[in-house]
Amino acid sequence: MPFNTALTRKLGIKIPVVQGGMQWVGYAELASAVSNAGGLGTLTALTQPTPAALAAEIARCKALTPHPFGVNLTLLPALQPPDYHAYAQAIIDSGIRIVETAGNSPGPVIRQLQAAGCVILHKCTSIRHALSAAKLGVDFLSIDGFECAGHVGETDVTNLILLSRARQSLVGGVPFIASGGFADGQGLAAALALGAEGINMGTRFMCTVEAPIHHNVKVAIVEARETDTELVLRGWRNTSRLFGNKVAKEAVKVERESVSGAFEDVAPLVSGKRGREVFVNGDVDYGVWTAGQVIGLIHDIPTCRELVERIEREAEDTLDRVGSLVVGRGSRPREKQPPPGEVGTDMNNPGAELWGIGKQKL
Ligand SMILES: Cc1cc2nc3c(=O)[nH]c(=O)nc-3n(C[C@H](O)[C@H](O)[C@H](O)COP(=O)(O)O)c2cc1C
Repeated sequence: MPFNTALTRKLGIKIPVVQGGMQWVGYAELASAVSNAGGLGTLTALTQPTPAALAAEIARCKALTPHPFGVNLTLLPALQPPDYHAYAQAIIDSGIRIVETAGNSPGPVIRQLQAAGCVILHKCTSIRHALSAAKLGVDFLSIDGFECAGHVGETDVTNLILLSRARQSLVGGVPFIASGGFADGQGLAAALALGAEGINMGTRFMCTVEAPIHHNVKVAIVEARETDTELVLRGWRNTSRLFGNKVAKEAVKVERESVSGAFEDVAPLVSGKRGREVFVNGDVDYGVWTAGQVIGLIHDIPTCRELVERIEREAEDTLDRVGSLVVGRGSRPREKQPPPGEVGTDMNNPGAELWGIGKQKL
């Protein structure tokens, strides 16, 4: 059964599951497989060396799926930042109308994308940042808890609190999806119960057949526990959650013991270049790579279709089971739900037609 949430309605997808942007992982193979399975696949703009290369990757993804997919554009502090506006323009010119933004000072890029009619899902790790993004008029907030892979922020609030804070602070305003720590349908059901319109997953999608990374990385995830991640670069207020391999542990040690406190002491260990190489050569200790605490919940390497369909089934079963726990409702009326509304009318979204959502009341 397709789900009916603000996310599925707006994006024209069947299951409210988004594959978050992933550097060196978010290529057309993965994004198209997620979209073909009924979720929202996402290309990662900065995996491409130039805006022109991104346009080519978008074209490749379009050839692999007739369903909607998005592009992630991450704005990170850098001595020589990429030309974010040029990447945004490539997204717009390629006809993409769903963009996941993340990172610092996203205002100008978000405004550029909004002017072209893009639906913006903005990812943030604190309520303060969520409220700023809400002021920019983003369509969805992606609330990334402390469990998440990658940039966890500096407030260390896990999703059980953060999602309810989002519901309490933003209710009546911008809808949100839950990100960080999700791997199964029980998680999706929990997120919906907490007020989210869907979930965003990174690490779980890394560990699928179609993720274009070395098999050894997927096996390392399957064998890991939830305690096998490390937080690095805390000292520079740029904290990242990484897979707890030899290099990440060494980076934490150097960071803790460094007398100078200089970034140069730790820089060679956290090199993104060596991390990228891990995904190609399969030596999981060659460099640092990103993973979330959810590794403890991952026990197999399914196809994206198997995974998304399993999540759908588990979420339905969980919601049914939890619903059946309420007995003797008596005369108390159910809270009124908003009408399902039309899907994709504002973005000519093919998914709405294909999944047949929004055409009839579900
Ligand atoms: C390998 C990897 C690379 C990632 N790279 C990015 C990125 O470039 N930009 C971004 O916004 N998020 C990035 N993320 C974060 C994901 O989009 C997502 O927010 C996060 O994985 C959610 O937590 P989870 O792993 O527990 O599902 C990355 C995650 C992983 C696992």
